[in-house]
Formats: sequence, structure tokens, C-alpha cells
Amino acid sequence: MLKAKKIPVSDLEKFKGIVAEDVVSKAKALILPRGSNLSWLSNVAKKNLIAKLKAEGIEYISVYSSDVDLQKNFFSQGAEYKEKLDVPVKRIDRELANQTMKQIGDLYQRIASGEDARDLYDSLIVTGHILTQEILQSDAITLSLIKVREKDEYTYVHSFNVALLAGFLAARLSRRDKKLVEKITIGGLVHDIGKALIPLEILNKPGRLDDREYAIMKAHPVYGFNLARQNGIEDLVVLSIIRWHHERVDGKGYPDGLTRDAIPLVARIAAVADVFDAVTTDRVYRTAESPYNAISLIFMGANTHFDPEVARELILALGLYPPGTVVELSNQSTAVVIASNHGDMIRPVVMVLSDFNGVFLEEKHVINLKQAPGLYIKGVIGNFSE
Ligand SMILES: [Fe+2]
Repeated sequence: MLKAKKIPVSDLEKFKGIVAEDVVSKAKALILPRGSNLSWLSNVAKKNLIAKLKAEGIEYISVYSSDVDLQKNFFSQGAEYKEKLDVPVKRIDRELANQTMKQIGDLYQRIASGEDARDLYDSLIVTGHILTQEILQSDAITLSLIKVREKDEYTYVHSFNVALLAGFLAARLSRRDKKLVEKITIGGLVHDIGKALIPLEILNKPGRLDDREYAIMKAHPVYGFNLARQNGIEDLVVLSIIRWHHERVDGKGYPDGLTRDAIPLVARIAAVADVFDAVTTDRVYRTAESPYNAISLIFMGANTHFDPEVARELILALGLYPPGTVVELSNQSTAVVIASNHGDMIRPVVMVLSDFNGVFLEEKHVINLKQAPGLYIKGVIGNFSE
């Protein structure tokens, strides 16, 4: 159960919560109904509300304690509903994810120390095989992406996510070519291996990199390529991903400035997966973009940064409104997207959070917009992150 607490009306502007009790005027008129979501009020609306409450002599209102609790609550309810829905969603086992990230971390540390890492790479091949089976059984993998807890973990978590996303895209683009998916997944796990040689003060720098630092950072694909070969990695798919995941189809990428088809398809797939995961993650120098903004960014970069076919496949799989996006529906109610309908980019499955007055609903309704003619998404309000 959510806990309510009293907050001073003067603090309303910075507070993002749900009103826990009806707020009424001296004349018993309803000013603020129970369930109103403060985070969905504009700044002007909040200022007007504060003035109104103060004029009525109201100094405190009761709100549910934190957005985090609410988000968790919505997500656990969303997950419950999803299981009953006819939308294929599969989660990668957390134990498998943690184990994989530990293996990636061990490989990086061994490589950074300059020692031979063949045995660790061999164990990642086995993991790549297991992940591939998970990917091939899954029609929607996006909710499995893991978010970073510690900044030092970033590269390992990111590598795991890139492996899943790239493998998932490859499965769709190659009509489930198992061997290829497996190689791309392994390539994703080790794509940034060259970062093992980049100084941590550059990798974790909280601001913009200067020219010298950026030049060092840009060396990681070539460092990685050389390290991989020194450690006996000969597979061309894996080597291509390591060396060319930062190339762009317009030739403005690095390290070799290749264009279009000169960049191997597997590296073009990795590039989309890499950018999508990177921009949806909080970093020391910037906060995460919402999945909706990340999709827009990939869409805008099709033909310049990204291979349009690969970008299209990501958008088809995730939809324009990926899970976690909070949207306003055409009947003015607010909902959170809980699953995509593959191939239908604009009509996902949503869970309605509040009615047309912004009043938070205790009873949750799940609607598949594909089966709800007349109801559509009017706009994006924000997003929930796990
Ligand atoms: Fe990279």
C-alpha cells in the first residue's frame, strides 16, 4: 500500500505526487480531487493552484509519498496484466543477466591487465549461445533491458543490453538465422572491449570530452579489434562489430569513415542497438532520454547515421511509443504503454492511469489500442523508467 504524507502547499511546485485526499474550500467546493497527479500539471497551473489554496487558508495537503513507489506499483500491476494478455513478452532471467555482466567485467579486467583472456572469451561464447536461445524464443525483448546502478558497471550493463538488442534485431532481419544471431550476440557482449584500455577519468568524465580526450576515446574500436585478435578471436562477425560499430552510413563515423554497404550489416545493426541503449541510460554527464525520444532520434538518424532498414526494424519492434511511455489518449485520459503490438507502431497496449479529469484510478484498465477503434494516442506526457 502507498503511504500518504502531508506536504506544505508552498512546496507544491517541486512536488510530483498523487493527491491522497479531496481538498475542499471553506464553502465545501472541491478544489483538488483525490487522485489528481501533480506531475501532470503545468507550472502555470501549479502556480494558480497554490494561489487558490493559500486564499482558502489551506497550508498542507496530503499526497502519496513518492513517485518511485507509484512507478513500482504501476509496473508490478502492469506486469501482472501483461501475463494475461495476448502480447508476447519475455523476460531474460535476472540471474543469467547478472552472471553475464560478471563475465564481461572479468574479461575487461583481464584484458586491461594485459594478460591472455582466451578462457574468459570461451565462457562468453557459451553464454552467447544461451542468450541466443532466449532471443529466438522471444517476440519482444525490450522490457528486459537492464538499467545501470553504479557508474563503473555502465560498460558491462551496456554491453549486455547491446547484445540482446542487436541479437533481437538480427533475428528479425535474418529470418531467425541462428548462427548469425549467435555471432552478433557475442559481438554485442564484447563490442566495447577496447574501452578496457581507455583511462577511467576519460570514460567517466562528468563533462564534455576535450579534443585530446575525444581522440583517445575514439581509438577504442581499433584497440578492441587488436586486442580481440591477440586473444585469438578470428570470427569476422565479432571482429566487424568491434571495429565498425561507430561507423555511420554517411561516412562521418569512425575509425575508418566507411559508407553504407561498405560497413558490414552486422556492424550497422550493432550501431542502432548501441545508440538506443546509450541514450536511454543515465550517464554522469547527462540524464537518460525517454524511450520515445530515443526512437525519434533513431528515426531522424535513418540514412545519415543509421542504416534505414535496421532503424525501421527497431521502430517496428518497439513501436513509436515504447513500453514505459506515459501518453494522453484521445478521450483525455492518461495511460502508460505496457507492451507494443509488433508491426503496429502507433497502437500499443496501454494501462489507463487517470480519467479525463486527471483523477488517478484505483482500478486499472488495460486497453489494446489495436482493438479499440476510435481511441488513439494524442501525445506523450513523460515516461516511467524501471
Ligand atoms: Fe563503442
